[in-house]
Amino acid sequence: MNLYKSVSDSIKAALGCVPELSGVDLAAVSIEAPKDRAFGDYATNAAMVLTKQLGQPPRQIAETILPYIAALDFVADISIAGPGFINIKLKDEFILNSANQKSQIINRKSEIIDLDYGSYNIAKAMHIGHLRGSIVGDTLYRIARFLGHRPISYNHIGDWGKPMALVIAWIMKKFPQDWNKPDFKIDETEFNDYYPAASAHAKENPEFLKQVLAIKKKFQDGHPEYFALYEKMMKISMSEMESVVKRLNIIPFDNTLGERNAAKYLDAVEKILRDKNLLTTDDGATIINLKTDLDTAPMPPFMFYDSRGADTYDSTDLAATYYKKNTDNPDKIIYVSDFRQNLHFEQLFRVSEMIGLFPRSALESVGFGSINGKDGKPLKTRSGANATLTGVIDTVIEAVCARVKESGKNLPDDTIAMIALAALKFNDLMHDVKSDYIFDPDAVTQFEGRTGPYILYTAVRLNSVLKRAQSTEHRAKITKLSIEERNLLLGIMDFERTVQNAFDKRSPDILTNYAYDLCQMANTFYHNCPILREDVDGDTRAHRLQIAAKARDTLVMAIELMGLRVPSEM
Ligand code: ARG
Repeated sequence: MNLYKSVSDSIKAALGCVPELSGVDLAAVSIEAPKDRAFGDYATNAAMVLTKQLGQPPRQIAETILPYIAALDFVADISIAGPGFINIKLKDEFILNSANQKSQIINRKSEIIDLDYGSYNIAKAMHIGHLRGSIVGDTLYRIARFLGHRPISYNHIGDWGKPMALVIAWIMKKFPQDWNKPDFKIDETEFNDYYPAASAHAKENPEFLKQVLAIKKKFQDGHPEYFALYEKMMKISMSEMESVVKRLNIIPFDNTLGERNAAKYLDAVEKILRDKNLLTTDDGATIINLKTDLDTAPMPPFMFYDSRGADTYDSTDLAATYYKKNTDNPDKIIYVSDFRQNLHFEQLFRVSEMIGLFPRSALESVGFGSINGKDGKPLKTRSGANATLTGVIDTVIEAVCARVKESGKNLPDDTIAMIALAALKFNDLMHDVKSDYIFDPDAVTQFEGRTGPYILYTAVRLNSVLKRAQSTEHRAKITKLSIEERNLLLGIMDFERTVQNAFDKRSPDILTNYAYDLCQMANTFYHNCPILREDVDGDTRAHRLQIAAKARDTLVMAIELMGLRVPSEM
């Protein structure tokens, strides 16, 4: 159950019954559940924030309201601290009873939420930037579903733009005789080098770039030979994508509309724009001016068609928004993307609002920061190239292997993969989404501290105790809790509030930090409250097993929301 909600609702209701507070606005009153429970399990600032309205010193107000809160049946102890904070300690029996109540997620309103993340590209290796998008997006998807929303995930594949043309042009240059033969095969081991090579070449060679841009337009118009080659490229990239999605334990995307398929709705979108007189021509390109008098920062125009009349990243994204409106009609669209795309999304949101697709308030972008190497610069491989996504996963697996070997253990490959997955994902999720972070394979794979392996280790330990005990059915007649039992139960009952908070703030780190704290409480409990030891009496054992089971179940829910997998042993 959501203990916080139940307790704070009761406290607020009690305050509503204090005659001296009648007519007083209680909006500023907050109830806290402090992490350090030395002074109480809950505290309220009521007396402090009401001084102005009541014209009385906080301590005096605290004394007035104290008896009303003290009368609540769950209060074991209540005291006034400092200038007027009221600390409340809960009765053990109340904690136990609450913990035995079935948990239910109370959702205010179930929403349809389109979540756009991952967004990999054809012909370009998946890079480190796609890691956070995948992990954060997948976790938001899982949480939304858990909270009773209807999330719909979109992998907005980059399959229609200049990169396609660059790689087509490059293959044509490399294999002038063969590129358009039906049996021409693209060498998969070389394929990922084509885009960076072509892109570097185009920078130095204006003729080549011109050819690329011409190819882009012809390709979009359906040039059969370019298209045949593109389909071969797509096969390779899509299979890389599928394998990464599997390795990262990402829930398969509901929708891979992609830029190419979105482009099919461009005519309809163009018509709306023309009817509203929003399109203008600038240097041959078709654009939408977005700058208003209120803009202090630069606001470039929205590029609808480039100067050759080709579709653009902007226009296909707008077409995808149109598609979403006409199919899902979502309450919200959340884009999880690199923070460098924030301006693009601001532009997209403005146009979407201008043409009446979505109000600005329904569109959100969660721009994530970069993953850097220990030198603080964008992560590179040992050979100095930009890190690829698969390269990073492999590095973490290697680090886990080394650590396991060092400890003299022998774990199956599947377990190693699960530990690596936890190391990588937990570390990613525990950082504030918007900030950059430094990726250190050695640090993220530690078995102690704020790491994925530590989380798994705790789950494995709880599982093992419960397995050894077999039955947790016996109902214990216990009314008194030890400090470790108390803390753990209170932690368990904070799960729902945490998940809701993590979603409302689009901050998965709230969930990861909770999972870590829960593990710490579970391990302290485990060390201080023997369960299976012979001298523990039956009632105590049963009671502790029930707490361990609740801790395990809660931790496993958190683990699933983070998209990790728990091995049977570690
Ligand atoms: N494919 C782009 C990239 O790799 C990201 C696309 C983000 N999503 C969107 N709807 N624009 O950078």
